[in-house]
Amino acid sequence: MSAVIQDNNALYPALLSPYTLRGGRLRNRVVHASMTTRLAEHGRVTDRLIQYHINRARGSAALIVTEPLSMAPHQDIPAKVRVWNDENLDGLKRWAAAVESLDCRLLGQIQDPGRGRHLPGRNPHAVGASALADDISGTVPHVLSGAELERLVESFAQGAQRLQLCGFSGVELSCGHGHLFHQFLSPWSNVRSDAYGGDLAGRTRFIAQIVSAVRALCGRQFIVALKLPGNDGVAGGIGPVEAVRIAAHLTASGDVDFLSFAQGSHARSLEMHIPDSHGPRAPYLPLVRELRRGIPGVPVAALGYITDPAEADAIIASGDAELVALGRSLIADPAWLTKAAQGRAHDIRYCVSRNSCWSTGRPSACDNNPRVARSDEVDWWPAPAERKRRVVVVGAGVAGMEAAWIAAARGHQVTVFGHTGEVGGKARLRALLPGGETYRNPVDYQLGAARRAGVQFELGVSVTASDVIALRPDAVVLASGSNMVVPRWLPADAVTSGLVPDLRSALLPLLGRSNRQHGAAVIYDLDHTEGTYAAAEFLRTRFERVVVITPRDSLAQEAPVVTCQAILRRFGQQGIESLVLTDLKWNDSLEDAKLEYVHVYNGTTGVIEDVAFFAYSTPRTPEDALADPLRAAGIEVHVVGDCKYPRTMLDATAEGHAAGNAV
Ligand SMILES: Cc1cc2nc3c(=O)[nH]c(=O)nc-3n(C[C@H](O)[C@H](O)[C@H](O)COP(=O)(O)O)c2cc1C
Repeated sequence: MSAVIQDNNALYPALLSPYTLRGGRLRNRVVHASMTTRLAEHGRVTDRLIQYHINRARGSAALIVTEPLSMAPHQDIPAKVRVWNDENLDGLKRWAAAVESLDCRLLGQIQDPGRGRHLPGRNPHAVGASALADDISGTVPHVLSGAELERLVESFAQGAQRLQLCGFSGVELSCGHGHLFHQFLSPWSNVRSDAYGGDLAGRTRFIAQIVSAVRALCGRQFIVALKLPGNDGVAGGIGPVEAVRIAAHLTASGDVDFLSFAQGSHARSLEMHIPDSHGPRAPYLPLVRELRRGIPGVPVAALGYITDPAEADAIIASGDAELVALGRSLIADPAWLTKAAQGRAHDIRYCVSRNSCWSTGRPSACDNNPRVARSDEVDWWPAPAERKRRVVVVGAGVAGMEAAWIAAARGHQVTVFGHTGEVGGKARLRALLPGGETYRNPVDYQLGAARRAGVQFELGVSVTASDVIALRPDAVVLASGSNMVVPRWLPADAVTSGLVPDLRSALLPLLGRSNRQHGAAVIYDLDHTEGTYAAAEFLRTRFERVVVITPRDSLAQEAPVVTCQAILRRFGQQGIESLVLTDLKWNDSLEDAKLEYVHVYNGTTGVIEDVAFFAYSTPRTPEDALADPLRAAGIEVHVVGDCKYPRTMLDATAEGHAAGNAV
């Protein structure tokens, strides 16, 4: 596979061109950015962890930065590979050999979260620059003394040497994201009065000492990279001017081989480090250009929501960066570069940027890649089934489409029934709302694959159990989705009369119109997933006022911290109002365009006047009415996605994938 990438560089000549780093040759310009996979177990390298990296080396990257490794005893947690003693040498050697033999350099990441924590609770074991609380968790770290810092420098350098002995080509220090090294760099989190605080030299000292200790122990051939803050989005923190001063100071020795820049900090700006489709692609490129001007001659890897091979090629061709670092794009498709090089960019499974891979506490998983870390993951296409069967798929959303293309690619005769005229289900509606561009990515891939595999579509058709039975299928994949439950306070006639619709139904008629309306749009929110808030943002473009009401104590409780921050930021900027710990008091006042609400604890009431739009967004219940009659008719039925139990896009893709392989 790597030979393909090297040989065919006509399409993306800059991206596919080699680059010399520390005297060694990188076969192309793609770097795999560090991402925590949670594939290690009990501090050990696992076969799945190695396989994850083999796949990215085989399909795309010329250099991989691993997830953070446990380089000092206080960092010991089961999900981090232990490097601070010799017990893992065998696993580390197997990991390095597997990746390096694919002509891909492997760099271990040195990182410590310091006081930073975004899971519930505080971290009693945190170490840090100063006794200041983490903005998100409130964790106040133990302040590292000068002697403790010297011991850490020694530990990190010895860990780097151990990695080198095991066959790793280098290390990266992760100095952004508001983690320990960032906490030392920033005057906002470092108020020390000793040699490790104060001026630029003091705040950079800890990192500079690690770099020179690594260089001293590992020699001239070992690659040392830094991920530095570019703009941390914190008042009194590190903006672009300070970022250039830091970068220039830390690279002056010539010991650092390349830099990348991370944005945001472990504060209200954490969301900046993994931007999503609410903003432009490659949003930090202008900043990278600006920062580069202050550090001429230092190689830079451009980083941040780079998804498109043509954009990546242009970054290299225009001289904006020497390398392109990809995070989520390579979780979604390890063959990102192979497919591009073969003229098959349309076959790439592109990142949805819903950030479901981030901080889940579970091993790496992806909305658009159900095979993360499997041995056949790279450019996977199913093997033919032994016996051809007739398969009916009910539902043309993400789950149904995933099952359909795979079943057809295995040689089955597949018909998909969808009750609307288009494929995509809820993802299609979400794609039409703000920040929704990428929600179509799974469906776009599935539709292309389905056409290639010969799936037949019957769209705009609502089938009954008898319709399906009459087709005499060998197997049915039931992917007919879910419906929002009606809030208990809402009388049945308000729903049947259409006076109060669910949010999805209420949005559909508005999508084609661009006119603004007087009055308030009100959403009653028990759902708390990202889509509800995208709907609020859409409504803000149509109504004078938007109010989200929820009985829960805050918004977006089903979204990752970073997504929640981004939602709250946009709500603030767009003037979208919210009422938390608030329920609705149903009476007939909606007839007069009024809604009365009540505080859930103290009973205080209020009224929203001039209500022009009102809908509820609630948890969903499966739309699985066909399952029992089909089973009673002796048909093999696979229930998948929301139809099984309403959850996320990630579950829908995964279950559709499994069903497509099982029928
Ligand atoms: C699942 C996930 C885990 C990450 N873990 C780390 C990490 O442990 N260390 C680190 O320096 N960056 C980490 N990052 C940040 C990425 O390296 C990268 O900076 C960020 O995802 C932006 O790149 P992208 O837009 O190409 O994904 C992580 C990102 C993701 C999505």
